Amino acid sequence: MDPLLPLLAYYRTLGPFGILSAAVAAYYLPLVIYRLYFHPLARFPGPKLAAVTGWYECYYNLVKGGKFFLKLDDLHKRYGPIIRINPHEIVINDPTFYNEVYVAGNTRRTELYAGSHHMTKNHEHHRRRRKPFEPFFSRAGIDKIEHVIVNEAKVLDARLKEESAAQNVINLDYVFAAFNGDIVARICCEMEAGLMKKPEFGKDLHDLVGRLVSRLPFVVYFPQLISLAMKIPTPLLLSLSPGAGEWNMFREHINAVKQETLASTTIPEASRSSVFRHVLSPGVLPPSEASTERLANEVLAILGAAVGATPRALSVTVYHILADRKIRDQLREELAGVMGGWPEADSAPTWQELERGLPFLRNVVKEGLRLSYGTLRHLPRVSPDTAIQYNEWTVPPGIPVGMSGWSMHTNPDVFPNPLAFNPDRWVGDYDPRMNKSYVPFSRGSRSCLGMNLAYAELYWAVAVLFRPGAPDFELFETRDEDVSVAVDFFVPMPRTDSRGLRIMVHPAGGK
Ligand code: HEM
Repeated sequence: MDPLLPLLAYYRTLGPFGILSAAVAAYYLPLVIYRLYFHPLARFPGPKLAAVTGWYECYYNLVKGGKFFLKLDDLHKRYGPIIRINPHEIVINDPTFYNEVYVAGNTRRTELYAGSHHMTKNHEHHRRRRKPFEPFFSRAGIDKIEHVIVNEAKVLDARLKEESAAQNVINLDYVFAAFNGDIVARICCEMEAGLMKKPEFGKDLHDLVGRLVSRLPFVVYFPQLISLAMKIPTPLLLSLSPGAGEWNMFREHINAVKQETLASTTIPEASRSSVFRHVLSPGVLPPSEASTERLANEVLAILGAAVGATPRALSVTVYHILADRKIRDQLREELAGVMGGWPEADSAPTWQELERGLPFLRNVVKEGLRLSYGTLRHLPRVSPDTAIQYNEWTVPPGIPVGMSGWSMHTNPDVFPNPLAFNPDRWVGDYDPRMNKSYVPFSRGSRSCLGMNLAYAELYWAVAVLFRPGAPDFELFETRDEDVSVAVDFFVPMPRTDSRGLRIMVHPAGGK
């Protein structure tokens, strides 16, 4: 008799549901046992359920709506500074260790756990792709395009003066989306987006970003969605999302620049007028990296990174200035010296002079960035060649390790009363761990490419809005919870029912 016959007879008694359950158990049981007892991370602290399945983290982010960053705080309280948060990943919460995880490119190789250089996994490939962009976004590079920011600051000022004449209520989230969108469109593609002149400022851009951002968690957990979206024909995509038509303009700009630079052998005068004139200048980008498709992805990454984060940081900063009369007055007093006659005065400070010369402004911007976090997520990084040693724990090479910006910025040992906006915490002889814990732009080889651009925009916007002679602003039906971070959609966002940062604009000296 065939030895399998009794087994088949037994399965027949189970019925289809029983057979399915047995098949699932036969597949998953060994996997569960492996992950709990034999996986290289088996001995690391953390909930057993998280060690068994990635659905644990997914549940807090997808079902509970971007709340894993808060759960992580609870887990650290229970399990300590190092935790296995899913079958494959480790998260550490210790400010003294940040620079060991997010290292410079020449310290050791760092790969992404997960197009554009942002999504480029391999260390060398990422460096090759990122390097050509770095001079454009360096401090000296931003000095050369500072006039774009100053012009936009003048448009912002003029528009707010118009609004003040009618004492209108406006939404500053839309204003900052416009301010940032106009600058980035100009810098990326020499495009005049003119958002600041639209009736509702950058409302459309703000809402588009909001919609995209709210879908990001799905893309993070189901990256297959990106490949699926790429397969949608452009006309269909445009009919589904009219705003997507704008993306094609980036392709057109890149193609036009390519045509112009193809024949030239020297770096043209205009090479600083857009990111892509710069990287497509002769000898800057290897031809293998210069396809229109790839550069268009690069635009998307830059725009995505820029239009989400900078306006959020501005909203958080400005809300806290408006919510505290003392901070507003002190800022205005400090700005009087350099910004008193702006924009009519002959001389104007540069963003670097604002940063260096005005300590209170610098600390206000610093607190704004601390409480807007950059990212709340734990930004996993992979060390492909060497183990990472954290106290007695050896994380083997190839295992993603991350640290969360939220945990770093709200550690009450380092930042007492961490959710309070307090520029004075950065004055005098403060705890050196504060600088170590301050990571709005992350650190190391994959840190924010646009940090200097973001700083220049923040300094200019805050200096213009709160200088003597600027219109007066009053919060309108806006409370802390309308602005403060409540959900992690990869970009930190306030609660989903917030109506945004609304203010009433009065003429200068009117309030
Ligand atoms: C206040 C504003 C900003 C904040 C707080 C911020 C924060 C961050 C953070 C935390 C990262 C690391 C993300 C990760 O590891 O996955 C990042 C990456 C990046 N940011 Fe920003 N960012 C800001 C503005 C900008 C701007 C204006 C640009 C425009 C150029 C930009 C471009 C990028 C790019 C291209 C990356 C990817 C870098 C790489 O992988 O090499 N960011 N940013």
